[in-house]
This record gives sequence, C-alpha cells and structure tokens, in this order.
Amino acid sequence: MKYTEEINKRKTFAIISHPDAGKTTLTEKLLLFGGAIQTAGAVKSNKIKKHATSDFMEIEKQRGISVATSVMTFEYEGFLINLLDTPGHKDFAEDTYRTLTAVDSVILVIDSVNGVEPQTRRLMEVCRMRDTPVIVFINKMDRDGKMPFDLLEEIEKELHIQLHPMSWPINSGKDFKGVYNLFDKNLLLFSANTKANDEDVMHITDLSDASLTDRVGERDAKQLREDVELIDGVYGGLNTTSYLEGKIAPVFFGSAVNNFGVKEMLDTFIRIAPAPLCRLTSEKEVCPEDEKFSGFVFKIHANLDPKHRDRIAFLRVCSGRFERNKYYHHVRLDKDIRFSNPYSFLARQKDVIEEAYPGDVVGLFDTGNFKIGDTLTEGADFYFTGIPSFSPELFKEVVNKDPMKTKQLEKGLLQLTDEGVAQLFTQHGGNRKIIGCVGDLQFEVIQYRLLQEYGASVQFNTLPFYKACWITSEDKKKLDDFIRFKTANIVSDKDGHLVYLAQSEWFLNTEITNNPDITFHFTSEIHKEGYGV
Ligand code: G4P
Repeated sequence: MKYTEEINKRKTFAIISHPDAGKTTLTEKLLLFGGAIQTAGAVKSNKIKKHATSDFMEIEKQRGISVATSVMTFEYEGFLINLLDTPGHKDFAEDTYRTLTAVDSVILVIDSVNGVEPQTRRLMEVCRMRDTPVIVFINKMDRDGKMPFDLLEEIEKELHIQLHPMSWPINSGKDFKGVYNLFDKNLLLFSANTKANDEDVMHITDLSDASLTDRVGERDAKQLREDVELIDGVYGGLNTTSYLEGKIAPVFFGSAVNNFGVKEMLDTFIRIAPAPLCRLTSEKEVCPEDEKFSGFVFKIHANLDPKHRDRIAFLRVCSGRFERNKYYHHVRLDKDIRFSNPYSFLARQKDVIEEAYPGDVVGLFDTGNFKIGDTLTEGADFYFTGIPSFSPELFKEVVNKDPMKTKQLEKGLLQLTDEGVAQLFTQHGGNRKIIGCVGDLQFEVIQYRLLQEYGASVQFNTLPFYKACWITSEDKKKLDDFIRFKTANIVSDKDGHLVYLAQSEWFLNTEITNNPDITFHFTSEIHKEGYGV
C-alpha cells in the first residue's frame, strides 16, 4: 500500500441541486475556505440563466467557463479536496449523471423556501443507484422558508432517504437567529457576512444555561430546548457507517450567501466523507490502494479551440499512480498511449502535472482516442462498469442542408456526440441519422456547433419516439424476427448495438409483454458485459 497517505488525503465530491438553490454560491464559499480564491464573486456561474433557455450563444460563452470550473481542487485542513462541477440546466442532466459516477460523495443543496424540486428528485435517484453518500445543506435560512420539521419530512418522503440533523435552526427569515450544532453542542449566532469567521460561536454545554435566554430571548430559547430534546430522542448520534452506505444523510441548515453554517458543514464533511472508494470493473473490484494504475474517462470537451480540433478528456484516477509520459493501456482500443501534457486542476497551479493519485481528476489532451466510459490501465484488460448512457427522451432526424459538406457533417456528428451530451443512432439497414437527447436545448447547441465548428448546415425533423431501449436476446432467431417486424423502429447506436425506439409507454410495454425472449435495457451499459448483439 504505497500511496495510502496520498489516498487518505483526498475527498472527491460534487455539489448538486435544483437550479437556483445555491450551488454556485456554496461552491464559492467552499473555495474561499480552501484559499483557492480570495474574493467573493470570483467563481463565474456555470449555469445558464433562466431567461436564456434557448440562447445557445450563452452556452457557447459558458463552455469556456465550464472547462475552467469543471474540477476545482483546493486544500483544507490537510485534505486535498476535488470538487467536480455539474451543469445546473436540466437539459444537461446526463452530463451531471455521469459526473456523479466519478465522485465518492455529494453535497445536496435544498432551498428552504422551495423544498424538494424536480431536479433534486432526479439527481437523488442517480445517487441512489450507486449508494453515493449524501450530505444535505438546507440553504437560504435567511428567507421565510418552510418549517424545519416539515422540510425534513418532505425530503425523507420525496427522496426516500433517512435524514439525520447535525444542526438545528432558530427560526428563519427576518427572525433567523442562528443554528445550534447538535454534534459539537454550540450555538452559531447569525450575522450576515461574506468572510469566513467563527466569532459568533457560543459554546453551550447545557442548553438550560441562562445565557442562552440572554442571547436569543425566552421564547426562542424554550423552542430550541424542546426541539433539541425531541431530535436527540429521535435520532441519537450519527451512524457514520449508514452514511457511508448511502442510507442516512446528515443535514445542515445555513445560508450560503451569508457564509453561514458553511464552515460547520465543511468541517464535518472532511471528518466523515469517504476517501477514494473501490470501484467495480468487468473483472473484479479495483481499490485505490492497488499498486497498478487504472482510471476512466467520465467527461469530454470537444473543440476547445475549433482551429485545432483538440479535446480534453477528464480522467478519474481509481487506483495506483498516474504518471506523465508513461504508456498506459487503452482497453477499448487495445493500444498503449502516453500523455506528455496531463493537466491538473489545482486552483493555484493550473498546469501540467507529473503525477496523480486515486480521487484525482486529470485532463488529457486528446485527438479522438477517447469516448466517455473508456478505461486506462497499466496493461490489464478490465473496464470500469457503471458509466452508462441513459435512454434519451427526445429524438430528431438530421437533415443535411448542404450535400457538399456531407463528410464534415458525419465527422461533426461523431465527434460532438462523443462528448456524451447527445446520442447518435443510425437507421437499421439504412443511413438516416437520428439524434437522441434528454433536453431540447441540446439540438440547438448541436445545430449551432455543427455550423460553427464543422461548417455543416443541418435541420432537425422531430420523430415521434419517447424512449430508446437497447435490445438483446439469447435467441438469435427471435431477435432477427423482432428486427424484421419492427424495422421502422430499429436503429444502431455508435457502437453498432441494436436499439428499439418506442413511440409510447403503451407500445413499449406491449412489446416487452409480447417478446419475453428479448431483453429491453434502459441504459447502454449492458453491452459492455458482452451480451447479445
Ligand atoms: P445555483 O448555482 O444553484 O443555480 O444557485 P446560485 O448559487 O446561483 O444562487 C441562486 C440565487 O440564490 C442567487 O441570487 C444567490 O445570490 C441566491 N442565494 C444563494 N444562497 C442564498 C442564501 O443563503 N440566502 C438568500 N436569500 N439567497 C441566496 P440571484 O439574485 O439569482 O443571483 P445574484 O445576482 O445574487 O448572483
């Protein structure tokens, strides 16, 4: 176990939230604590503002920013923290889901006024798929939000996760007076500020102490005593094993914009959040302490500079040590590649790095070798599982408006869909190209980028499908028959795997019932395991 010290120093996580709950604000405060930035306002919002839902120019501007903020590494109390950014806009949800495969835990931000929102639900579903440990930060306590007990109940019910309050608020909105830390048994009194400071911490070993009444008034002191007694009775101490298994989520209350309650959460985060975890591969579990290097690509940014067609692949290191200029095995292509300019994201030295350890994310300049989900090893032939492509929900046929640019169009479609924000399908036995996305915005982005980056002009025709299912069968004849009967609904994905496009839930259920020998998969993951086609 050569690198134990390096591994145990690292915490790799993401902040997730429904747009506007306060993810960007909280990110900035965490970076301030880590000394990665000096002033508030230094982190440019990576989100696409509400009013710009169809403004793809805005997205183009954001693309540059989002590469810079994709991974933010900072040091805090001897730990090296890798914070992976996730796009806030729902049309980029798939990008977010995949980034979540590269983290070891998450912080979920919930707006105390709005409670659980649609994107919160979806994101938590993804976390639950992998039992990712979650810490909840209930934000905007300086606004008149829902009652804390009601919020806890709503979150538990809607997100199907057991909560464990770590702090408890005294009122909210104008009357917000602070939070009582149930673990350290001290009271943090609220003051609006933007700098890290813990001057207003009042240590209370006994809540019946009269000084509590002096500070917060009789009514609120009484209420806090009652609440804390109730919470202590119901919850007891935090079971960190259950947290690490993704079964219990510790909860903090605070106000990110006022930098209130953030440090408390960060201090608990470094104490309980997992160091880099073991991960499943096609062969065995690979653990960070394993001597040999391995890692996988979870994100790709194409055409950083359109003139050079360069791309950056984001590699999560999972085991061993990654070294500059050393040859590594690209499992899917079965070839060895080395990287002379691996890029680190340490905020103070965004630079070429010599080495990286499990938990780290390395930026690799790529000329088209990588696809999302690719594995690099020190020679072994396994690949990491659990990095699926999800079924798109919107489908459009690509119509080429400029036949002179057919080659450019094909290249553009292949390269842009390698980024993983959209999926490319080809009509079975034909050449019609179909793009599937989770959000409408993607089509505008693709149309715009095809023109800007490849000179190809396209139009999209909406198709009446609602879901793509990868199909496999042990019985080749049954599969062939199904394909023959359903030709109009059959396409291939980029790897040549067969996909059935369903018009509606009713059609899909009917086909599933009528074809018991065919398996319908809702993610593309299954193909890596060598089934069927
Ligand atoms: P997001 O990344 O999750 O989308 O949210 P972001 O941090 O951008 O926050 C959304 C809005 O909520 C911002 O206001 C931000 O200032 C505000 N906010 C964040 N934390 C708190 C808090 O604790 N209390 C209150 N009252 N507001 C908070 P905005 O007006 O949309 O943007 P801005 O002009 O302030 O940047």
